Amino acid sequence: MKTAPVRKSAPGRRIDPIAQFMQEHDETLVQLSALNKSSRSIAEDGFTADAFRRLHDAVAFVAEEVGFHNKREEEALFPVLERYVEGPTGLMREEHRTLKKEFLRLRKAFGRLELHHESKAAATEVALVARGIVQIMVNHIHKENHILFPLVQKFLTKDALREIARRMTAPGTKI
Ligand SMILES: [Fe+2]
Ligand SMILES: [Fe+2]
Repeated sequence: MKTAPVRKSAPGRRIDPIAQFMQEHDETLVQLSALNKSSRSIAEDGFTADAFRRLHDAVAFVAEEVGFHNKREEEALFPVLERYVEGPTGLMREEHRTLKKEFLRLRKAFGRLELHHESKAAATEVALVARGIVQIMVNHIHKENHILFPLVQKFLTKDALREIARRMTAPGTKI
């Protein structure tokens, strides 16, 4: 499955971790909207090559790039923030776990539709799973942008922010 490109930071340039995560949220919201529209279009109006291509790209982005984004939050951001405040990250981790399961369901449902383009049941399943993901994810992004990230900006020192940036660009971490 082809993946939409992820913007890379210039080598040696220090990234602002929160700006980076927020930019990824913006890209995710665009893809979630495409996921919702294309899956509904196929479920309600029937298969078209154009809607299927848009659905394919949105599923690839959501299942791969968003999964990776969530993993980086867990590995680079949350452990540092948890030294200052406990609690909010617990809920975010729980939602990531739920989303991971839903991304797998989405891939499977999409796989069935890929094999059976005319299957109404497969199209309905994709649209249903997609709708659930969009609801959870839009809410999750809202909480991170408006609650979690302001906490980071309020409590974390410049050194802590630099540590997050380092963890995000550590060898073996794909950015
Ligand atoms: Fe998250
Ligand atoms: Fe996020």
